[in-house]
Amino acid sequence: MSMLALFDTDMALEWAGMLARWVHVIAGICWIGSSFYFMALDAELKPNPRLDPRVKGEAWQVHGGGFYHMQKFTVVPEFMPKELTWFKWEAYSTWIFGFLLLCLTYFTHASTYLIDPEVADISPVLAVAMGAGSLALGWLVYTGLCRSPIGKDQGRLALAGFVLLVAIIYGYTHVFSGRGAFILIGALVGSVMVGNVFFIIMPNQRKTVAALMKGEVPDAAWGKEAKQRSTHNNYLTLPVVFIMLSGHYAITYQTRWAWIVISCVFVAGFLVRHWFNVHNAGGTPDWKLWPASAAFILVGLTLAVLGLKDVLPAYDPAAPKVEFAEVERIINERCRVCHVAPSAPQGVVFENARQIQALAPKIYLQAVKTRAMPLGNATQITDDERQTLRDWVAQGAPR
Ligand code: HEC
Repeated sequence: MSMLALFDTDMALEWAGMLARWVHVIAGICWIGSSFYFMALDAELKPNPRLDPRVKGEAWQVHGGGFYHMQKFTVVPEFMPKELTWFKWEAYSTWIFGFLLLCLTYFTHASTYLIDPEVADISPVLAVAMGAGSLALGWLVYTGLCRSPIGKDQGRLALAGFVLLVAIIYGYTHVFSGRGAFILIGALVGSVMVGNVFFIIMPNQRKTVAALMKGEVPDAAWGKEAKQRSTHNNYLTLPVVFIMLSGHYAITYQTRWAWIVISCVFVAGFLVRHWFNVHNAGGTPDWKLWPASAAFILVGLTLAVLGLKDVLPAYDPAAPKVEFAEVERIINERCRVCHVAPSAPQGVVFENARQIQALAPKIYLQAVKTRAMPLGNATQITDDERQTLRDWVAQGAPR
């Protein structure tokens, strides 16, 4: 076999996806890690009258065999250090590689990943245009909301932001495939978070530093706005990570109630983050936040299961025995185009009877219960065929 055949475009794209994902996840870990660290550090700071009066608070920490004495200056320090570490590339690279992945997977294979004809039969071009456009639009609406009079009141802003979020989630899940909708929600929220760093937090910090260097008093509004956006980012982290993983679990998105499921995840994530934020500040967080969060997850999970897209009539034990040859025909016609070695998705290969039989529970989950497969129903499986697969599994998947 020539080298070319071994390493063709598909193989190159597959590797590009793998490597982009690797960097995306590492950058994301660094970003979330530093964001959690600074939120916690900020909350931990205690005033100490014996320190420089410009120091708002200090914290002692031990890590890696040494002690750290952290001090936060909110006004001009005695001198500006020559080297100042900025935290921005963690956020930027998470977005850059995430967007690359979005393009490699979802935008280049829109008909497979973004579109579900059972939801809306839109063209791939329209799907990509709406997906990409909504990311930009989402940022503009969000930042406009933060700067509107509603943005002056944290409580009202949180409520308005949540209502807007749920409306977007509802819209996405009624236009795109379940999986496509979820990744777009994740991309939108992730873009808002990176937008906060790029358009608000960093410029405001630069203005603050420049003012301090000139010996001027920085505008307190800059710091306030940066802190507001950084707090939003903090509350959004947990749900975003759930969404990024959910694409690999059809049980989360292949449900009629997907929009409520993901809204519940957002609330559950906010509550847990809130517990930690109060705890880190040395306060006594309400322990009831944990059961409340668990309750939202439970509601989401229950609705996900109740809303599964399985539309087949209940299994009839008197149904005729399904011939294995018929199962093989369906799998060959409807599944094998994608599920062949060497780059079979998720390593699921249907090449012989033994493999098909061994995968019976997965076939049932993916093709019957969640209707996640065939992806985007690319091979136009019929409900009768799904029912045949279901009956075969119900009869013990014999061969
Ligand atoms: C258009 C291509 C395509 C077709 C046709 C297709 N699949 Fe898939 N399948 C995929 C992709 C891509 C994935 C990986 C999804 C992911 O990344 O989570 C997948 C994943 C799976 C998985 C693993 C899911 C998991 O999370 O464990 C199973 C099982 C599966 N498919 C079964 C089927 C069956 C059964 C059929 C036929 C009824 C079928 N597929 C038809 C593309 C396809």
